[in-house]
Amino acid sequence: MGELLVGQKALVTGASSGIGYGIARAMADAGAAVAINYHSERDEAEELAETIRTAGGEAIALKADVSKEEEVERLFGQSIANFGTLDILVANAGIQKDAPLAEMSLADWRKVLEVNLGGQFLCAKRAVAEFLRRGSVPEVSRATGKIICISSVHDVIPWAGHINYAASKGGIQMMMKSLAQEVAHHRIRVNAIAPGAIRTAINRAAWSTSKAEQKLLKLIPYGRVGEVEDVAKAAVWLASDEADYITGTTLYIDGGMMLYPGFRDNG
Ligand code: BGC
Repeated sequence: MGELLVGQKALVTGASSGIGYGIARAMADAGAAVAINYHSERDEAEELAETIRTAGGEAIALKADVSKEEEVERLFGQSIANFGTLDILVANAGIQKDAPLAEMSLADWRKVLEVNLGGQFLCAKRAVAEFLRRGSVPEVSRATGKIICISSVHDVIPWAGHINYAASKGGIQMMMKSLAQEVAHHRIRVNAIAPGAIRTAINRAAWSTSKAEQKLLKLIPYGRVGEVEDVAKAAVWLASDEADYITGTTLYIDGGMMLYPGFRDNG
């Protein structure tokens, strides 16, 4: 990925697997020092940090539940103590706890909102505080700081059986835009990436058999399931000065899922 993030310090939440893992790896390849946050997959996170260090990069694995304020405080404290400051937050950690309404417990409703939306709020709050404490360093980046919220096509596309998840992603959209409006005058850029169906553990059931994959592909005009790298490359670019004039935007990376393919020969 070249030199796009040389000298920058990034924190990626939920980076022990899936999209977060891919973004952490790609940001390190682009020259950033990366804090790899994990919740329970310590070995995976430590191995990724080791792989990055072996390749000559800088990385550290840090445990935290992003829905807990004291753990987020510790996460940022450790990350900043290690790298000196923070330039990029990728608020990626997210979960699904799917059930039809009648079977969805209040606990599962709350858990998904607390991790997906509350976690992004807590991390964004702490990141903005660090960006403002340090101020602008134009030799490192034109922006004072960058936040990328990892959302989903379900910030717009309704999703029966997943109302907690869809509500959390819809919430991320307005949180991201409102925060972007609030901090743009500090030259802090806040954007979202909204992936479609990316081949990771969270949606394994939707692609792991060829029958399931054929069904999923009906929703993807581009004709293939997304890969983590499709998202990771865009995240590097969006965090870099190449995207310096972009704030308050959502970038959909979905092979056209948002194009309502069911309407192609219908309606
Ligand atoms: C969900 C996946 C799903 C995809 C497309 C993502 O946000 O986490 O489970 O496959 O949206 O529906």
